[in-house]
Amino acid sequence: MTYWTEAMEPEKSTVHVAVLGLGYVGCVSAACLANLGHRVTGIDRDESKVHNISNGVAPFFEPGLEPILHESVSSGRLTASTSIGAIENADIALVCVGTPSEKNGNLGLDQLRRVISEIASTLPSRTKPLIVAIRSTVFPGTCEEHVIPAFAGNPLISVACNPEFLREGVAVKDFREPSLVVVGGTNDQAVGQVAALYSALGVPPCLVSLRTAEMIKYACNAFHAVKIAFANEIGALSARLDVDPGEVMTTLCEDTKLNIASTYLRPGFAFGGSCLPKDLRALTYRAKRLDLQLPLLESALPSNQHHLQRAIEAILDLPSRRLGVIGLAFKENTDDLRESPVVTLLEQLIGKGRQVRVYDPHIQLEAIYGSNRNFILQQIPHIGRLLDTSLQQTLDWADHIVIAQKLSPNHRAQIAQSGLPVTDVVSPSLAYASAPLTSSAR
Ligand SMILES: NC(=O)c1ccc[n+]([C@@H]2O[C@H](COP(=O)([O-])OP(=O)(O)OC[C@H]3O[C@@H](n4cnc5c(N)ncnc54)[C@H](O)[C@@H]3O)[C@@H](O)[C@H]2O)c1
Repeated sequence: MTYWTEAMEPEKSTVHVAVLGLGYVGCVSAACLANLGHRVTGIDRDESKVHNISNGVAPFFEPGLEPILHESVSSGRLTASTSIGAIENADIALVCVGTPSEKNGNLGLDQLRRVISEIASTLPSRTKPLIVAIRSTVFPGTCEEHVIPAFAGNPLISVACNPEFLREGVAVKDFREPSLVVVGGTNDQAVGQVAALYSALGVPPCLVSLRTAEMIKYACNAFHAVKIAFANEIGALSARLDVDPGEVMTTLCEDTKLNIASTYLRPGFAFGGSCLPKDLRALTYRAKRLDLQLPLLESALPSNQHHLQRAIEAILDLPSRRLGVIGLAFKENTDDLRESPVVTLLEQLIGKGRQVRVYDPHIQLEAIYGSNRNFILQQIPHIGRLLDTSLQQTLDWADHIVIAQKLSPNHRAQIAQSGLPVTDVVSPSLAYASAPLTSSAR
């Protein structure tokens, strides 16, 4: 990883960055970008912040910031101003203004709207291109609704989104060793130029759509919050049960295949099976008996139920009458039907008068025993009459296919060949779009 050193000439970076808003994010970004060798102009309405920064003084406490700020200012790579006119020579404007909560919890866009209109006011005298990159946290659609229209199609302007992931208290370290670099936009060249600002940090950037770049920061922060709440709830229950909470969570984190991994982190179908629902129920029941509130864990099953219901409603909305459902077990490569969400799906489709046939490569009713057999016969007593023994049988009968289980490449190709419209409830897109399948695996 390369950082700025005295030996590097400031002129080597030809990119001129304007950082608008010199708060926690903007000031750290401005100082660290200058430290990487870029020419940076910081702009803020707050005169005292600008005064401090111009004198190499950090306007707030952040470990390691002041020496970088001081060095960047004294080398001439970083200047600060209260005037939007200072954006004149910039190639990239990094917008880092605040987006605080409104009283109702909604995202406040006043600072963003104002700074964007100030940038727009400089356009009549502008002769060189400008990339406006939104680094503030904004909701998906903000760039399309509020930023792009403000520039009224001016050909000199491109808009990108470059969310920030730094944490206060370790912000300089987080800038220099980013966990994630994300840039989104529709203009590939502009996206590449913004990503190149961080190339010296040696972290491959994720180049994504504009709306994904806006969404990712919310997804990350929600994930962090859920992780903390999860650890605290497991910790609280463990402590009540006389179990060492630290030992439980440290052991949980030892599993880097299923726990601290991307496993189970792709949007898909509802969960089911003989373990997750049962164990969640037992855990939350025990907590209740201990007068312990665990709202996050208690909400997991209702959340799963809502998720299943969304899929069922999307299928009920289809004009088709003869639905061929592929998959019956709670996931692929098993014949375990206990608490399979597909069984609930079938019950509701049948209850609403849809004709249904089902194919699951691993389900033969005569080969299912014990609690598994009892479960399915209790839920859908005439399931035997709905089951096909080959995929082709289902394809020949159905006018629409519902994919309720991950497909083998062969079955995917066979369904694609049929040309039947398909609703895939296990696909990560989750748009519940109805269209013929392509044979390429996802
Ligand atoms: N603080 C964090 O840890 C953090 C981390 C990642 C992302 N973010 C996001 O980054 C954004 C900025 O957060 P922050 O904590 O740095 O905010 P902040 O309130 O500390 O700083 C915002 C700055 O913008 C300035 N400003 C407002 N309007 C302006 C204008 N028209 N022209 C110039 N300057 C203007 C303000 O004077 C202020 O100095 C927010 O969207 C926040 O959600 C924050």
